[in-house]
Amino acid sequence: MHSWPGTEEAPGVVRCHEHGLEAVRAINAHGSLLVFCHGAQLVDYTPEGRAPVLWLSRQSRFENGVAIRGGVPICFPWFGAHASDPKKPAHGFARTRPFRYLGSSLTLGTTKVSFELVADEATRALWPFEFRACLHAVLGPELVVEFEVENRDQRELDFEEALHTYFSVGNIGQVALEGLEGAGYADKVAGMSALQRESRLTFTSETDRVYQSSAPCRIVDGARGREIVVDKSGSATTVVWNPWIEKARRMSDFGDDEYTAMLCVESANTGDARVRLAPGEKHVLRVTISG
Ligand code: BG6
Repeated sequence: MHSWPGTEEAPGVVRCHEHGLEAVRAINAHGSLLVFCHGAQLVDYTPEGRAPVLWLSRQSRFENGVAIRGGVPICFPWFGAHASDPKKPAHGFARTRPFRYLGSSLTLGTTKVSFELVADEATRALWPFEFRACLHAVLGPELVVEFEVENRDQRELDFEEALHTYFSVGNIGQVALEGLEGAGYADKVAGMSALQRESRLTFTSETDRVYQSSAPCRIVDGARGREIVVDKSGSATTVVWNPWIEKARRMSDFGDDEYTAMLCVESANTGDARVRLAPGEKHVLRVTISG
């Protein structure tokens, strides 16, 4: 890790380069985290004495303008393909734009690092609105990730968003996801809608579902004997994704066998749950991860 000298940071926080990109690492008694300025993408959260919680593909690319495969990409201001223009980047532009690092603080043993993205020529070319988006990563007894969007335009802002979190698991075949019972979902693989009846979701094939749910989820990882709890606020949809064998093979930045080691549980506002902000208003999507 190469540090930049001369910057005033909270104790335990260092600016560095990883994979050739600017990043910020924070370490305290609770654990450590690593966030790239590129997309303000959190790629590592390791609670003290435990295994890393987030998954990062060994085939990820780390280049300006390209999405990093793993960690917590920010999807904004749309989710998935753009509604009317398939040439626009999937999941919006936030994950491929450089965010500005705002700095760090340490309060009662909890470290916070913050990043911002404001509208510029490149974002206006894709989405003609004025906005300020901030990502705060807070390392305490749990990890808190906040994505805050402020409408700086004269018009209403209407957007989708997600903290597209890739969790590291021991073996997807021994994972159960709890917390979605009773929620309606759109199944993007089967092309249908349904109601989740089972209390535990298990994984035996490609899974790509958008749940109408603001409830917390629990990832029960049998192989590791670990439970990860994903709690959230300001989010009305939960996306659950694992590409499985064929789709993993089609993705150049995803190892063929890596689907066994990850599960995405994404805290989102998509489709009908999209966010509408009057001029000057702000919205905060907050995810708390413990495990
Ligand atoms: C998920 C979507 O959120 O992200 C999937 O529901 C998609 O449909 C996946 O395949 C990965 O998207 P991308 O653009 O990072 O390859």
